[in-house]
Amino acid sequence: MKQSEFKKRRKQLMQYIGVGNIAIIASADSSIRNRDVHYPFRQDSDFYYLTGFNEPEALAVFIPGRKQGEYILFCREFDPKKALWEGAHAGLEGATRQFAADDAFPIADLDDILPGLLENKGKVFYPMGRNTDLDHNLLLWLNDIRGQSRSGVVAPNELVSLEHLLHEMRLFKSDAELSLMRRAAEISAQAHVSAMKMAKAGVYEYQIEADIVHTLMQNGLRAVAYPSIVATGSNACVLHYTENKDKLKAGDLLLVDAGGECDHYAADITRTYPVSGKFSEPQRQLYQLVLDAQLAAIAQVKPGLPWNLSHDAAVEVITKGLVDLGLLKGKVSKLIKDEKYKAFFMHRIGHWLGMDVHDVGNYKLNNEWRILEAGMVLTVEPGIYVPVDCEEVDKKWRGIGIRIEDDVLVTAEGYEILTAGVPKTVADIEALMQAN
Ligand code: GLY
Ligand code: MN
Ligand code: MN
Repeated sequence: MKQSEFKKRRKQLMQYIGVGNIAIIASADSSIRNRDVHYPFRQDSDFYYLTGFNEPEALAVFIPGRKQGEYILFCREFDPKKALWEGAHAGLEGATRQFAADDAFPIADLDDILPGLLENKGKVFYPMGRNTDLDHNLLLWLNDIRGQSRSGVVAPNELVSLEHLLHEMRLFKSDAELSLMRRAAEISAQAHVSAMKMAKAGVYEYQIEADIVHTLMQNGLRAVAYPSIVATGSNACVLHYTENKDKLKAGDLLLVDAGGECDHYAADITRTYPVSGKFSEPQRQLYQLVLDAQLAAIAQVKPGLPWNLSHDAAVEVITKGLVDLGLLKGKVSKLIKDEKYKAFFMHRIGHWLGMDVHDVGNYKLNNEWRILEAGMVLTVEPGIYVPVDCEEVDKKWRGIGIRIEDDVLVTAEGYEILTAGVPKTVADIEALMQAN
């Protein structure tokens, strides 16, 4: 992502904040895995969105209209010993030169400098309640300023959540963001195709997981956007199953929900397919029902339509289909009203997608479902999960779990499926699997 993109975002944020106010946001912390070994660092999405700065122990400050510079970055000072052991880090010079901060200060001097920046400001925008240290320190800094009131210094009088503004910005993807999301989607689709080719009886779920990570990494996607779900048989009925330890058995289905992250942008794809390459009749019937529901839901993705229409369309198709197949009994409209479908389809149709797999942005505005607009990206992922111990239905359905998930961009005319590279019709899946 080019620096100009981050600059554009900061400019937009400054306009929202308004002259006389200030915004503060902290980087993610580096987390310990064991003793002196850390988890791979993943920057806080909001912080990265505004700065492109990929280091821990940093804090960005935005002060619209400040003469000496509006964008201030606190970060670690350059340390040659650290560079020797851990590699490059920007230091203060890099913060201004490479990351376009107007001013940069050592993070160690935060307590000395930040109160001065807060003086005489009206509102302080910050991500409330997300970073305990920042919450705590902000109150200390404010008290520090209040203590100087007799010398004429005025402390800010309003704390405002930064998320509201920022997450509204993040909900609408720019061309630069979409090109990263397309790449994440394309490589993740390739990973699913490879996994589909590899699936057969005797292979372990973790081997499928390894194959997915292999494809992602071979193509430069170093991180998965979330732990891969590789669930065979009734494991697929656990919505976020990640143990990935069982052996694939002939006659079972395999559900794979996995996606990579490309420069902090996620893909999120699910496919479900038969281990032996051919769906049994009950599997095929339920699979086709989920696919019909997904297609009906995707058809409702269009600018101007409320977000919930795609959920309602899927509920309608699934409930009617479950009645036709005998898993639910009664009148479709009453079953929908009583939410009886939730015994088998218990989650929502999808979520916003972006830097976070369950991305930010409100789903309702003024208590009404949000209207879709071009530039939003969402997942469409209906499923049917029949618990193994579901005595109310015929044995042949029990333990079947199916989800089909694609990433969909709202365009000016309708939608674009970013993850169309993985087959999902019964015929296409069987053809691909049997070609191996
Ligand atoms: N992969 C998590 C989800 O589909 O929401
Ligand atoms: Mn999802
Ligand atoms: Mn998913």
